[in-house]
Amino acid sequence: MEDKVSNDPVVAIVGVTGAVGAEFIATMDKRGFRVGKLKALASARSAGKTVSFRGHSVVIEELTERSFDGVDIALFSAGGSISRKYAPIAVKAGAVVVDNSSAFRMDPNVPLVIPEINASRIRDHKGIIANPNCAAITALVPLWPIHQKNRIKRVIISTYQAASGAGAAAMEELVESTRANLNGQVYTPKVMPHPYAFNLFNHNTAIDPETGYNDEETKVIKETRKIFEDESIAVGVTCVRVPVLRAHCEAITFECEKPISEDQVRAIMAQAPGVKVIDDRAKNYFPMPIDASGQDDVLVGRIRKDLSDASGHSISMFVAADQLLKGAALNAVQIAELLPQ
Ligand code: HSE
Repeated sequence: MEDKVSNDPVVAIVGVTGAVGAEFIATMDKRGFRVGKLKALASARSAGKTVSFRGHSVVIEELTERSFDGVDIALFSAGGSISRKYAPIAVKAGAVVVDNSSAFRMDPNVPLVIPEINASRIRDHKGIIANPNCAAITALVPLWPIHQKNRIKRVIISTYQAASGAGAAAMEELVESTRANLNGQVYTPKVMPHPYAFNLFNHNTAIDPETGYNDEETKVIKETRKIFEDESIAVGVTCVRVPVLRAHCEAITFECEKPISEDQVRAIMAQAPGVKVIDDRAKNYFPMPIDASGQDDVLVGRIRKDLSDASGHSISMFVAADQLLKGAALNAVQIAELLPQ
């Protein structure tokens, strides 16, 4: 696929060798996303290697300031500093950028989009469109249809975030450190801030010394308000990294303006786009990362009354979603599908 072979868009992937980059390719393929030509971009270290797309070998090119000439859509997943430098260059060259980093998410001119919630924010937007944080996407896909029917005043989220959220090297570190520990060897963490095998720790982003919140938590709070266009929704959140390879889980408790029952939430979830209910009390079967891995939907279960709220306005539930798919690549490709072709 060296030359453009149709009027379909030229698509560039920035960070093609990363965990999300690989899922951009797999997701475009799976969904039949029309691609006239694929440009695979990465650092000089990976230039010259190849990736496979629809049975063709695509040679990885080094990312440079000229990489975006002729590109229609650029999917970025190479970290905030790369996005800050190259996304404006891509836009200047005429591309629409879908950026998976947090670099532009809170920019008032940049739509922050979950297609199930606010696809209309894209309209004929030119420039940068931001893909939200995966922990935010996982919570907001099921919460949005509830919020529309009975406004959520307050939500408390506890995350159980997989290695995939910290990248391919963190996934390797989880496997290698687990193997080393089982063999009685000492393993010094290279990627994570603490021993990862048989452990869990505060999310590996910086802590604000004033508030005690880590960056991931702050993102979930700010992004919820921006996506819901509701600055007064109260969000409490604790983000934790757990030794799971792929797919994030979250315990979510929310309080609505009016009373709400378990059955009402079940009925809303049964119709909710992007949601699959797994809530089998008889079999004690509820959402698990192992079932969410490789799945497009956010799995929702353990729907139950929050017993700490006698007023009947609050519900608790447990969700799981593939961080690399709905939490990243799938959401970005769904955004790209909404762009005018
Ligand atoms: N920030 C997320 C995590 C991944 O660390 O798990 C991407 O949204």
